[in-house]
Amino acid sequence: MDTVSDNFRSRGHPCATLWFVRLSDNHVEVFLVELSWGRRYVMVRPDHFRVDYQINPFMDLSQQPDPALTREQWDGLVAAMRAAGAGVEVIEQRGDAPDMVYAMNLGFVVERPEGPLVSSSAGHAVMSHMRYAERRMETSTAAAWFAGRGFSVSYVGREGIGAHLEAGDAFAWGDALVVGYGPRTDELGLKALATELSVRVRGLRITHPGMYHLDLAFCPLDDRRAIVCPSAFDEESAAALLALVPEPLVITEEEALTTFAANSIVVGSTVLMPATADGSNARIVARLEEWGFTVAQLDLSQFHLGGGSIRCLTNPIDVRLGRDLPLLPSGEVVLPRQ
Ligand code: ARG
Repeated sequence: MDTVSDNFRSRGHPCATLWFVRLSDNHVEVFLVELSWGRRYVMVRPDHFRVDYQINPFMDLSQQPDPALTREQWDGLVAAMRAAGAGVEVIEQRGDAPDMVYAMNLGFVVERPEGPLVSSSAGHAVMSHMRYAERRMETSTAAAWFAGRGFSVSYVGREGIGAHLEAGDAFAWGDALVVGYGPRTDELGLKALATELSVRVRGLRITHPGMYHLDLAFCPLDDRRAIVCPSAFDEESAAALLALVPEPLVITEEEALTTFAANSIVVGSTVLMPATADGSNARIVARLEEWGFTVAQLDLSQFHLGGGSIRCLTNPIDVRLGRDLPLLPSGEVVLPRQ
C-alpha cells in the first residue's frame, strides 16, 4: 500500500488537503478532506481567570486555578496552534469577567461569502446572550472588539431579554449550522440565528447537565468525520446527529466528561486535544491517528476547573457563509422531532 498526500485547490473545497491511499493500481481511496475552516481564531488571555461562581457541574469554588500554571498552559496552547498553522488574535480579559477566557462563548463569527479582504475585516459576529447573568458583561466587550476590527455585529437577545445563545453550542457541519439547545441556548434562539445568518439550523436537544454546550459532545474533524457523544442528547437528537456524521468517532459519557476529548480543535490535519493525567483518551487518540490525523495533546488542567478546555478557549473566525454554511434566503430550522 502506498500513501500519497497532495495539497490542492478543488472547486468544492477551496482549502482542502486530500490524502490518497492507493490500495491497488486501480483502487485509490480519498481518506481525509480537511475542514475548510479552523485556521484563524480569537482567544482571551487569562489575566483574570478564577472560579467565582458555579454555573456548571465542573466548577467548585474551593478549587481555584493557579495563575502561573494557567498562563503557561494557555501560552502552550497558543504556541501549538501557531505551530499547526493557525492564526490567533487576542481580546483582553475584563477583570470582572473570570469566565471570559472561554472565548468560544463570546459569539458565533462568520466570514462573508466573498471572504476576508484584510486580516479580520469583512466578517460578522452574532453575539452570544449568555444564559447566566454572571457572564453577560463579556459580550459587550467582545462586540466592541469585533466592531473595532470591521466586523458587523448583531444579537438574538441581550441583557436578559430575548433568546439565549451561547456560541459553544454552534458548529458549521454539512449543510447546516448544527446548534445544541437546552442547558444554555434556547430553542427560540435557533430561529433567530437561522434568520440572522440566512442559513439552515439543525437543532439538537442537549439533556446532559455535564455536557451543557455542544462542544463538549461534538467535534467536527474533517468533512465526514466527527467525535460524537450520543449520551449528551435526548434519543431523537442523538440519532439525528449520528445520521449527519458519515463516520462518527463515538465516545462514552465517561470519556466525554473525564477526558474533554470532544473539546478538541482541528487545524488542518492536526487535532489539538486536551491531555489526560492517566492516558484515558488513548483509544480516541489511536483512532484519530489511524485516520491520518496528527494528535497534539496539551495540558489544560487549570481550565478544566472552570468546565472548559481547548475548544472553549478558541473561537474560529474563518467559517465562511456560502462555503461552510449554505445560504438559504430566509433561513430554516430543522428539529429532530417534527
Ligand atoms: N465556566 C464556563 C461556563 O460555564 C465554561 C464555558 C465552557 N465553554 C464551552 N465552550 N464549552 O459558561
